[in-house]
Amino acid sequence: MARVFVTRELPFPALERLEAEHEVDTWPGDLAPPPDELRARTSEADGLLSMVADRVDEALLDAAPNLRAIANYAVGTDNIDLEAAAARGLPVGNTPDVLTDATADLAFALILALARGIVSGAETVRAGEWRTWEPAGALGTDLAGATLAIVGRGRIGEAVARRAAGFGMEVVHSSRSSGLPLDQLLGQADVISLHTPLTPDTRHLIDASALARMKPTALLVNTARGGIVDQDALREALMEGRIGGAALDVTEPEPLPGDHPLLDAPNLLVVPHLGSATRRTRARMAEMAVENLLAALDGRPMPHPVT
Ligand code: DGY
Repeated sequence: MARVFVTRELPFPALERLEAEHEVDTWPGDLAPPPDELRARTSEADGLLSMVADRVDEALLDAAPNLRAIANYAVGTDNIDLEAAAARGLPVGNTPDVLTDATADLAFALILALARGIVSGAETVRAGEWRTWEPAGALGTDLAGATLAIVGRGRIGEAVARRAAGFGMEVVHSSRSSGLPLDQLLGQADVISLHTPLTPDTRHLIDASALARMKPTALLVNTARGGIVDQDALREALMEGRIGGAALDVTEPEPLPGDHPLLDAPNLLVVPHLGSATRRTRARMAEMAVENLLAALDGRPMPHPVT
């Protein structure tokens, strides 16, 4: 029987499979363990089931001599130092595929919300400020015929492209191996949706000069990772009306404090990292993370390894 540290409560049936075979230490409550607790609990573990908010770095791995497997409860693995894990022969697993549709749905929900002012419209009604039907009031953007630029056309980017085709949008993309150069892409897009992983190469990919290339009406949607967008530059662009609006499911830091200066920007919608947050998707993610741990702790290859 191995000892597994699970860094957040996982109210899904999959956890029972892990508990049937191993001793499971679950961090209580719904907040992330502070770094010193993460380190202390991991230092006694053979397996770690981590979340995107848990920084699994070299220092943490050094403090965990018994660790034999890391299963990240996410498809993204930018919270883990993969090189340090590989150097220690530690297998790392993730949860690809199962969250593709949920994340693409959320990206499209944000595109629609921005294009049609749904959140600001609802706030107007709640505030008792809906006065009349105005011919030129709260005008939005037509999606049919508009150009959607997908940055990073992996599984989720592709799923967003499929949804956009159903709405009659023109889809263009830029990715490592195909599509248009980013500068050219940004200049012709009405909507830009980010789907690239966060790596040293993509950190602040959307910086002041990228924002300056966008149309003044462009809508930017980020459901990938907060670090891909330079938030100070985004705030300035929104403040000066240099782009039409932005919707972020991911920010830096997460959670974004309620008094963060970014939140003063107009035409900005921020939601709390909801991409994979559907009941079925999160239950499937738990199954995959548990399958990864059960296999690795049993000396078998993980079924969903990070490649
Ligand atoms: C992931 O799996 O990387 C997502 O961001 C979690 O919702």
